[in-house]
Amino acid sequence: MDPVRNPYAPGAGQRPPELAGRGRELDVFDVVLERIARGRPERSLMLTGLRGVGKTVLLNTLRSQAINHLWGTGKIEARPDQSLRRPVAAALHMAVRELAPRHRAPDRIDALLGVLKAFAQRAAPAGRGGAAPKLRDRWQPGIDVPASSGRADSGDIEIDLVELLTDAAAVATDVGTGIAIFIDEMQDLGAEDVSALCAACHELSQLGAPLIVVGAGLPHLPAVLSAAKSYSERLFRYQRIDRLDRIAADQALCAPAEREEVEYEQKALDLLYEKSGGYPYFVQAYGKATWDHAPRSPITAADVRVAAPEAEAELAVGFFGSRFERATPAEREYMRAMATLALVDGEESGRDDMDAAVPTAEIARALGRKPASLSPARDALIKKGLIYSGERGTVAFTVPHFGRYLRTQPA
Ligand SMILES: Nc1ncnc2c1ncn2[C@@H]1O[C@H](COP(=O)(O)OP(=O)(O)OP(=O)(O)O)[C@@H](O)[C@H]1O
Ligand SMILES: [Mg+2]
Repeated sequence: MDPVRNPYAPGAGQRPPELAGRGRELDVFDVVLERIARGRPERSLMLTGLRGVGKTVLLNTLRSQAINHLWGTGKIEARPDQSLRRPVAAALHMAVRELAPRHRAPDRIDALLGVLKAFAQRAAPAGRGGAAPKLRDRWQPGIDVPASSGRADSGDIEIDLVELLTDAAAVATDVGTGIAIFIDEMQDLGAEDVSALCAACHELSQLGAPLIVVGAGLPHLPAVLSAAKSYSERLFRYQRIDRLDRIAADQALCAPAEREEVEYEQKALDLLYEKSGGYPYFVQAYGKATWDHAPRSPITAADVRVAAPEAEAELAVGFFGSRFERATPAEREYMRAMATLALVDGEESGRDDMDAAVPTAEIARALGRKPASLSPARDALIKKGLIYSGERGTVAFTVPHFGRYLRTQPA
């Protein structure tokens, strides 16, 4: 069928033609926004899940929802080895700009911007000892107001973040609304920053201040947060974002097709679900290839069968391969051992779950190595976001079906 009219959108953060199966999450967030606007206590939200389940897309949708409620919003994508200070300043600046036109006292906004600027600039080393600050240290937040002093500029990120977010929330209160800061890939924040963020959320919730953080990250994000502050388990509301059930996966395929007057035969949908396992990225990838190969509506199971190799080839490059290439030879060996063990475990227990967690001790045994000698490979893979440790002493792939992919790769 006409590839120009192909509605499907496989890709990182690509808005799907139909956001299927997330009604509950959207409803929960509506309630959160309403409650906070009325001064009721609410917890910040954390979305967790494997790669490609739709965390980024959902985060963006929640942001639109907040904007529709006239909230100020800003978004950050955390990166390993990057301090939170500047990105959070930029995100908050964005949120304040959204609220500023509705505020009756411009000097209150200016005061906040002054604090914001001081907070942001505190990151730059003074350039003492004659050395000129590097170009990236001369970063300007784009705020015309002069930086104030004595607030949010101590250099201690925890103190500064609490002060900055409290001041920002106060301005939102003036306008009768709230501020939401969205943080994607949140598991990549440094330990100090995570700690500071937890402390800030804790303080804000005690004050009943209308500012929330909405995070998204890999399944071990809760562990990262509770390692920083033990109270974080009670501080955040965790929502596991998972693969789509059959009804939602069918809807993700059928609703956009219907708008183009295209239908699927039942058997085609059966096969598509079998192939995608309901993982949103795979739903889009198989849907896209099938559309291009199908000669006419209705789309049949035979069309899916013809198209599947193309979808798989594209996934092998774009979804799996790009990640596999980030691993060193030693890390690849580690992951291959994981993939083999996950398969054996899955077969023994009769599960079709090929992405099961594997005990690290077994990986060491399979490779004939001491567990401690494999720690660097494991830690590097966790840092690269390829595997995660959900339960102590085990690891699992963050990428769905990654084990299956590895088993098809030549050693
Ligand atoms: N609810 C949904 N219904 C249909 N398609 C979806 C849904 N959510 C996401 N998708 C599709 O799945 C793909 C992956 O989405 P997204 O990039 O948001 O995943 P992610 O969880 O952020 O992945 P990563 O961990 O790699 O960042 C995109 O192509 C998107 O269009
Ligand atoms: Mg994402």
